[in-house]
Amino acid sequence: MPLKVIPFNPKLIDFVAKVEGISLGEPLAVKSVEAIFNALDRFAVLVFPNQVLTDEQHIRFSRYFGDLELATGDYMKQDDRRLQMELNDISNLDRKGGKIEAADVKRLFSLGNMLWHSDSSFKAIPAQYSILSAKIIPTTEGDTEFADMRAAWKALDEKTQQKCLGQVTLHSQLYSRGELGFTEFREDQQEAMVPVRQALVRSHPRTKKISLYLSAHAGMIEGWTIPEARIFLKRLSEHATQREFVYRHKWRVNDLVIWDNQATMHRAMGFDNKQVRDMRRTTIAGNISSLKDMPS
Ligand SMILES: [Fe+2]
Repeated sequence: MPLKVIPFNPKLIDFVAKVEGISLGEPLAVKSVEAIFNALDRFAVLVFPNQVLTDEQHIRFSRYFGDLELATGDYMKQDDRRLQMELNDISNLDRKGGKIEAADVKRLFSLGNMLWHSDSSFKAIPAQYSILSAKIIPTTEGDTEFADMRAAWKALDEKTQQKCLGQVTLHSQLYSRGELGFTEFREDQQEAMVPVRQALVRSHPRTKKISLYLSAHAGMIEGWTIPEARIFLKRLSEHATQREFVYRHKWRVNDLVIWDNQATMHRAMGFDNKQVRDMRRTTIAGNISSLKDMPS
């Protein structure tokens, strides 16, 4: 059966598509991988329903899109991990499969996922694609929202666009977790939280489409006072996450969703911690610093 890419939402015609006619657990032909890349160039979010994958199959599929990041951005130490390092554990389960308590610091730290962000923007070379597989979902809630940062850029007035162009922001989990009230970090976390420089506006390395590069991890703009930078970033984020730019995904078991972090922001919507939610994510590293993608 040929690969079918079906736009998902008439209001977001170039943002989200459903993909059918492919089994991601099987090794893929070059032309299938190219078709997915091409679909991602137009739709920054692709939903593949009914993909029953082992972790190994998930990882093998992900490697078609580039080198994988290791999951170094969560709160866990190596010994606490339930999953291998290629998989981000987006669940409320501990390594023995028991449920993490609501007040557990690991869960509280993970609530940072509920702030609008772009994955790994706190790394010098940030993520390109994220690939999230839904294993167990709550009976209600637990949705994920995605915002189209290309459409958000296009809709900005020219004066604000000019103000954004050429600006360099600093990103760190210190800022995003600080917003949640975290003030103390282990030494190994502090080392991983040294702020990195990112472009506020970037052109996509494949499509050259321009987008705003925002994230909860962004806490400063070089050369600006902190209050002025924070207010400006907050205003931009409010603009970029208006309903007209946002798709809300209601998960089904065995959905696999790929999104392009270089064209989107996303956030988890939360759920009742009495229920189990088990999602697993691979992350494809970008090739170059976002500063190399700054439009001139
Ligand atoms: Fe995320």
